[in-house]
Amino acid sequence: MYRTNTCGELRLADANREVTLAGWVSKIRRMGGMTFIDLRDRYGITQLSFNQEVNHDLCEQANKLGREWVIQVTGRVMERSSKNSNIPTGDIEIIVSELNVLNSSKTPPFTIETETDGGDELRMKYRYLDLRRNVVRKNLELRHRMAFETRSYLNEKNFMEVETPVLIGSTPEGARDFVVPSRMNQGEFYALPQSPQLFKQLLMVSGFDRYFQIVKCFRDEDLRADRQPEFTQIDCEMSFVDQNDVLNLFEGLTKHLFKTIKGVDIPDFPRISYADAMKFYGSDKPDTRFEMRFTEIKELTAGVGFGIFDSSEYVGAICAEGCASYTRKQVDELTDFVKRPQIGALGLIYVRYNEDGSIKSSVDKFYNEEILKKWLVKCNAKPGDLLLVLAGETEKTQKQLNELRLEMGTRLGLRDKENYKCLWVVDFPLLEKDEELGRFFAKHHPFTSPKAEDIALLDSDAGAVRANAYDLVINGVEIGGGSIRIHDSSLQKKMFTVLGFTDEQAEAQFGFLMKAFQYGAPPHGGIAFGLDRFVSIFAGLDSIRDTIAFPKNTAGRDVMIDAPSTVTIEQLDELGIMLKPAESN
Ligand code: AMO
Repeated sequence: MYRTNTCGELRLADANREVTLAGWVSKIRRMGGMTFIDLRDRYGITQLSFNQEVNHDLCEQANKLGREWVIQVTGRVMERSSKNSNIPTGDIEIIVSELNVLNSSKTPPFTIETETDGGDELRMKYRYLDLRRNVVRKNLELRHRMAFETRSYLNEKNFMEVETPVLIGSTPEGARDFVVPSRMNQGEFYALPQSPQLFKQLLMVSGFDRYFQIVKCFRDEDLRADRQPEFTQIDCEMSFVDQNDVLNLFEGLTKHLFKTIKGVDIPDFPRISYADAMKFYGSDKPDTRFEMRFTEIKELTAGVGFGIFDSSEYVGAICAEGCASYTRKQVDELTDFVKRPQIGALGLIYVRYNEDGSIKSSVDKFYNEEILKKWLVKCNAKPGDLLLVLAGETEKTQKQLNELRLEMGTRLGLRDKENYKCLWVVDFPLLEKDEELGRFFAKHHPFTSPKAEDIALLDSDAGAVRANAYDLVINGVEIGGGSIRIHDSSLQKKMFTVLGFTDEQAEAQFGFLMKAFQYGAPPHGGIAFGLDRFVSIFAGLDSIRDTIAFPKNTAGRDVMIDAPSTVTIEQLDELGIMLKPAESN
């Protein structure tokens, strides 16, 4: 037997037991005639003790060990004289009687500790060592538990996990596809799925009724903190359901995960329309850990000759509680913040509602106290508050005000990672217009059903049609999205027409789906959660990278295995892919 116990489980109650442990040498400390080793495995750290006077040779053997060597020890569990309350095994140590080196190790390129000395790139290159660190391993343990609880919850609710293919044709999720050349069909390519969308709908036609899959999806898009080119979805589809059924079931899953994994009871999730989300937060994924909703004050600003406001389509304000005392420097910082090119506001206007009731603003020249008071009243401001105002084109300004709101939330400490606020954003627009191309795109995907009461608008005012589409948002992060689908082939055909597909194009790309829908497609709908993002929220991480065992870096590279990489001319030849010589001028 390699070990009787793990390095995380022995306690005072085990004193005097003879045990065998195996693991990695984490630290070696020599103190006088004693040598102490922290032995680490996945479960924790246990201190080993060697006494030069009691067993000279054994102690010498221990002194020759290096960091990250793999050893096996046998010894007796004893109460420690100086206890370490920071670790669960801190009351005991093992008085070692036998030491067996199972493998030596090169000195690792960085310390395998919570606070490591290794930089990002180095840790990614040696990811298998990085994964030995407690902090990183814990995220993967959390991910495992979340996936496990998800399976158990969905299984309980009669969902069936079905695997769908990875080598497929293009799926219409709106990102670029990763493509794979086919050797047997030269000149043709598979695409990796951006999601199993089409297959899960086909499974509904097959009568599977409740499907789920914890599944890898691939999207060739630029990386951000919350995006990886390959990521994992908790992908689901249900038959004979309306929007409420889907929302209730997946609200249940979310609550179940919070309860079983974080021990937190989350109240029923508020539901807010897309239109209200934009109006009050300037975002379709509002962070509702704090209020600070937008108030439109355009009508209170007109007619005094202040050109910027008069010519603006939209004037919006947020009320920062207790910030009237902000110094000039702090207000300047906020102005610089909104003027950064990424945000792009032209300036920031403020109104201080001082504790003594006096009012001071950056537009005193144009607005008297009486008018400014009206702004304050409309924004529910109290003495001591600071009003921050942006003006311009509606959509753009709302987005800028959203950034400012989030910045203020951060500055005021209102975005506590352990405070979880979940909500559903519903009634998304069905379509999105690309002004440059002058045509509509599906906001979610082309199979999303318009709201029954809006179908008539498809011909007259397509941009105003709302969809039976919804997103789950937690703390300002889009965790999941889905919709009720179109199950009627004539409505689906109409949708393709609105999206500018000719009959031939629609047939070529989605003919198989439209055909399937002619064989008794049940009403259906579904949702997909991004597992990586879900785990990052539970773990309190700012990026999804450390929820993934072997992630890609920001250039989409795996620096450990050095992928992507070139292939040989022979391989290309076999695939029928010719590299054209660079064209000369
Ligand atoms: P959607 O495109 O909204 O919907 O994706 C669902 C969820 O997947 C996560 N996600 C990502 N996570 C990490 N990296 C990425 N690059 C990435 N892209 C998306 C997000 C997102 O909310 N087929 C539909 C679902 C449906 O209609 O049922 C779909 O894929 O958390």
